[in-house]
Amino acid sequence: MLSKDNGAWRRMFPGRMVSGRRSIIRTHPGRLWNLLVLLLGIAAFGGGCAQEPAPGAGGVAEEDAAKQVTVGFSQIGAESAWRTAETESIRSEAQKRGVNLKFSDAQQKQENQIKAIRAFIAQKVDAIILAPVVETGWEPVLREAKAAGIPVILVDRGVKVSDEDLYATLIASDFVEEGRMAARWLVEKLGGRGNIVELQGTPGAAPAIDRKKGFEEVLKDYPDVKIIRSQSGDFTRAKGKEVMEAFLKASGGDIDAVYAHNDDMALGAIQAIEEAGLKPGEEILIVSIDGVRGAFEAMVAGKLNCTVECNPLLGPAAFDAVEKVLAGETLEKKTIVQDRLFDQSVAASVIGSRKY
Ligand code: AHR
Repeated sequence: MLSKDNGAWRRMFPGRMVSGRRSIIRTHPGRLWNLLVLLLGIAAFGGGCAQEPAPGAGGVAEEDAAKQVTVGFSQIGAESAWRTAETESIRSEAQKRGVNLKFSDAQQKQENQIKAIRAFIAQKVDAIILAPVVETGWEPVLREAKAAGIPVILVDRGVKVSDEDLYATLIASDFVEEGRMAARWLVEKLGGRGNIVELQGTPGAAPAIDRKKGFEEVLKDYPDVKIIRSQSGDFTRAKGKEVMEAFLKASGGDIDAVYAHNDDMALGAIQAIEEAGLKPGEEILIVSIDGVRGAFEAMVAGKLNCTVECNPLLGPAAFDAVEKVLAGETLEKKTIVQDRLFDQSVAASVIGSRKY
């Protein structure tokens, strides 16, 4: 079990009570007689057998509860299969390590995440794990967490703050590189010429900003490959479908390829393309990011051409960071998760080994 009962943690947060243990024997003379009677009673009825202490009796159970680490996890929502896999990874890792996890789903709203963090601070959690929906606007609440002596571990998405000490570490993929990988694959398949429509992620979110940036960076060297339309599909399948329908209505036959910032939007786009009587993966190439099971199934079916993995299984790394920071260790400011690219040529052979 991840325990906070160690010297380093105490040094970091001197104001906190680490153990619930208290001495029951006091030198109050009036109570000595009562205590003697109590001990005789225990000897008479307990027969000297070792017994499980009742909860709240100041025994092992209470001590364990006092030692258990409590972590608040502010999650963005459940907009995609990727997000669900990330939530599951954090939850199962907390359970494995005996961490008391307080989970909050912000339903895509930054204000809900800020409220959740404030609630975690009021509940005096030991650490906070935050997957921030957007990059900006975190400074005040991160200052509140810091003032309360609660370390914040960022997972998946980064934040823009003037002082990096406001969070302990960031564990995330390199979203710019993911965008570059998708672009390199696509320009080659297009033979250096073609029209692309882009389904962006949530406005202001790190992966939406960086995946666009990385993709456009590569396209600069290919003047005949153009992004003819670009709009947010909010990382959801439903919105991806809706935006793709609008793209098809407006630009129909001019579209050679779709670049979706995540698999869910690509899967929505596939539906829209099929409903328009076209063949996704053949008449319109589709590349996306995440590498979720649904994307592999679509590649095996020939409807999606390529996905760039973005690993959501961040639970083990997140709780390693929690453990280290509570032990007083200084963490690397950023840990980059390594991702790979998969296309239709390998989809069938690797689908069985995918973990999300
Ligand atoms: O921040 C990671 C992104 O957020 C994933 O690509 C997407 O599926 C999720 O919603």
